[in-house]
Amino acid sequence: MRAAGRGTRQALAPPPLLLLLLLLAGPGLSSVSPPAPRLFNVSLDAAPELRWLPVLRHYDPDLVRAAVAQVIGDRVPKWVLALMGKVIGELESFLPQPFTDEIRGMCDFLNLSLAEGLLVNLAYESSAFCTSIVAQDSRGHIYHGRNLDYPFGNVLRRLTVDVQFLRNGQVEFTGTTFIGYVGLWTGQSPHKFTISGDERDKGWWWENVIAALSQGHSPISWLLRTTLSEAENFEAAVFKLAKTPLIADVYYIVGGTSPREGVVITRNRGGPADIWPLDPLNGAWFRVETNYDHWKPAPKRDDRRTPAIKALNATGQANLSLDTLFQVLSVVPVYNNYTIYTTVMSAASPDKYMTRIRNLS
Ligand SMILES: *[C@@H]1O[C@H](CO)[C@@H](O)[C@H](O)[C@H]1NC(C)=O
Ligand SMILES: *[C@@H]1O[C@H](CO)[C@@H](O)[C@H](O)[C@H]1NC(C)=O
Ligand SMILES: *[C@@H]1O[C@H](CO)[C@@H](O)[C@H](O)[C@H]1NC(C)=O
Ligand SMILES: *[C@@H]1O[C@H](CO)[C@@H](O)[C@H](O)[C@H]1NC(C)=O
Ligand SMILES: *[C@@H]1O[C@H](CO)[C@@H](O)[C@H](O)[C@H]1NC(C)=O
Repeated sequence: MRAAGRGTRQALAPPPLLLLLLLLAGPGLSSVSPPAPRLFNVSLDAAPELRWLPVLRHYDPDLVRAAVAQVIGDRVPKWVLALMGKVIGELESFLPQPFTDEIRGMCDFLNLSLAEGLLVNLAYESSAFCTSIVAQDSRGHIYHGRNLDYPFGNVLRRLTVDVQFLRNGQVEFTGTTFIGYVGLWTGQSPHKFTISGDERDKGWWWENVIAALSQGHSPISWLLRTTLSEAENFEAAVFKLAKTPLIADVYYIVGGTSPREGVVITRNRGGPADIWPLDPLNGAWFRVETNYDHWKPAPKRDDRRTPAIKALNATGQANLSLDTLFQVLSVVPVYNNYTIYTTVMSAASPDKYMTRIRNLS
């Protein structure tokens, strides 16, 4: 028995030659295998105030508070922080749930005010530069990938997590987010659909946001998560994402499980500005969305669209897979110094959901 045990251990240890080869392979190697974020379960059966606390306990509260202070300091005008402190009591009662209670629970735990917690959750909604791609291979499988590009990468990379939201012990949906951030910009409802959001910057103001919130409009990332939780299928998800009033403009990119189920929704606050589906029978087997309306040329100073299209053309529809999509999302400048994470996913194969942290030094 003992001998067999020792044999097993030896078989598991990496052979010295392989180790040597890995070391000799040098710096290129780390760039082909960036690290996965931590994976956590969050139970939707627990009270909203409590459900994130088991996750938070894995993090240094000072690190999370420093991230909150940095984002608020940079992104939120002082008067907004002051105003929010005053109106939070009135706003609170009609802010969407369970988000507000989840934020309250985390703020209590971290000794932050609810106004700070809410503002940091809203502040992320501006200045996120991203690339999303939805595509169909030659056999009709749908793939969806995204890069999330954002300033403050040094701290946010350490706070990036994959989360499985459980109900009755089953995964209801999966998403990628930052610790302290209850909305989702990237997520998957297993065997149904996948969604990503890309910022559509129309130079909106805090005044507008606060006004829209008090009219019951949803933050962008909250609607994304609500849709993952509630929509029965691809079509219902597209309908909900297209119609629900929002506090700001956005692009929602949605992938399904059947051929042709892929779309870019260009959103105004009040409703859809444009719906742009895959059209594989006419050669449109992918759609690329960065941060500009697809019917206008991408600006020269920030054209991530053309390089992404070139890379997809070079890959070819027959060679499309989650791996080749990840490679497309690794082509500079689609991949750039602001890229915090890359996720590739396919709702028909939910176990293959994969996020990698980028630019981790
Ligand atoms: C919050 O403040 C209380 C009282 O000052 C302190 O006991 C607690 O450790 C603080 N919690 C965190 C996470 O820093
Ligand atoms: C999360 O929950 C799933 C489903 O209940 C379980 O299989 C898995 O082991 C859990 N993972 C973690 C990281 O806790
Ligand atoms: C990609 O391929 C399509 C179809 O062949 C072509 O029309 C388009 O110009 C190509 N785009 C780029 C950027 O290479
Ligand atoms: C695409 O796949 C075919 C067949 O597997 C292969 O011969 C070809 O080299 C691939 N092309 C690229 C660009 O990877
Ligand atoms: C990223 O930053 C490095 C160092 O600051 C710089 O040399 C490089 O050109 C940047 N890369 C891109 C794609 O902007």
